[in-house]
Amino acid sequence: MINDINSAQVAAIDSLAAASTLDEVNRLAADLTSKKSPISQLKAGLGAITDAEERKQIGQAINAAVGQIATAIETKRQELGDAVRQAKVAAERLDLTEFLTEPTRGHAHVVTQAWERLEDVFIGMGYQVAEGPEVETDWHNFEALNMGEGHPARGEFDTLFVEAVDEQYRSGDPGRLLLRTHTSPVQIRTMLTNEPPIYVVAPGRVFRRDTPDATHMPVFHQIEGLVIDEGITMAHLAGTIEAFTKAFFGEGFTSRLRPSYFPFTEPSAEFDIQLPSGDWLELGGCGMVHPNVLRAGGIDPERWSGFAFGFGIDRMAVMRHGIADLREMYTNDLRFIEQF
Ligand code: PHE
Repeated sequence: MINDINSAQVAAIDSLAAASTLDEVNRLAADLTSKKSPISQLKAGLGAITDAEERKQIGQAINAAVGQIATAIETKRQELGDAVRQAKVAAERLDLTEFLTEPTRGHAHVVTQAWERLEDVFIGMGYQVAEGPEVETDWHNFEALNMGEGHPARGEFDTLFVEAVDEQYRSGDPGRLLLRTHTSPVQIRTMLTNEPPIYVVAPGRVFRRDTPDATHMPVFHQIEGLVIDEGITMAHLAGTIEAFTKAFFGEGFTSRLRPSYFPFTEPSAEFDIQLPSGDWLELGGCGMVHPNVLRAGGIDPERWSGFAFGFGIDRMAVMRHGIADLREMYTNDLRFIEQF
């Protein structure tokens, strides 16, 4: 009988150990303590034992087993209850550690960085920053810049025209609207709204009907420079370009002017910079402001003279960072953008 008690106790405790939910434990507990449970059955058989001493011993053994089973039930209940509580706490936990580290911060695009550095260099040289609209009139973009209707140089600009909604711009070619093909119309706008002396730079977005490739984009950026003062000569232009080159690129760089042609400057030049390696790179155009342009800007060419220059900002960024393809800068691929 003692063996039966032991095996009933072991079976009960094993079944409890295997339980994995509180429901299961509760069901087992009900079974193990019911009248039909093996241990209850053994207890029911006690009366049949005639020897008093033996009945007492067996009775004690049964009570001990019942006690063990009760303890095992309680222990298991507590164990599973703890697990349930822990799971609940874990599920309800609020994550307040979202910004444990510095939040990621973006930074200015590589072209914006070049734009701002260029502004800084010219502001340091005493210039002011001027602006003009991206949708420009034919007059500001061409006519006033000494490129009248039919001027062959117009063809080089691959102009994108804009269909005007405003009645004012519908009729007559001089008012025709377009996306500015260069920042030079800002020269005209600045002259018309300011008295000389004028020392301005005008960075901005420009547009040309070009198919994107490694060195061309239909939308790109230029920075225009305009100086109008008394007694301004080509020497001031060359000196300014040289001072800018050293300030922007570094002491190891120099510049040169090469004769060229633009309708709005006379004489005109291209300017190149020489890298410490000795290589020359073409940077932009410049020249002495044409008297017709001064007149279009309401300035007397007999009294005032000036120079202008213009060059591509995107190209500066590309050169500075050794970027192989202009298009890379506009794909918005973070792996590219984050490098600068
Ligand atoms: N606007 C010219 C261009 O886009 C550059 C330039 C500006 C040349 C000012 C001379 C003077 O090519």
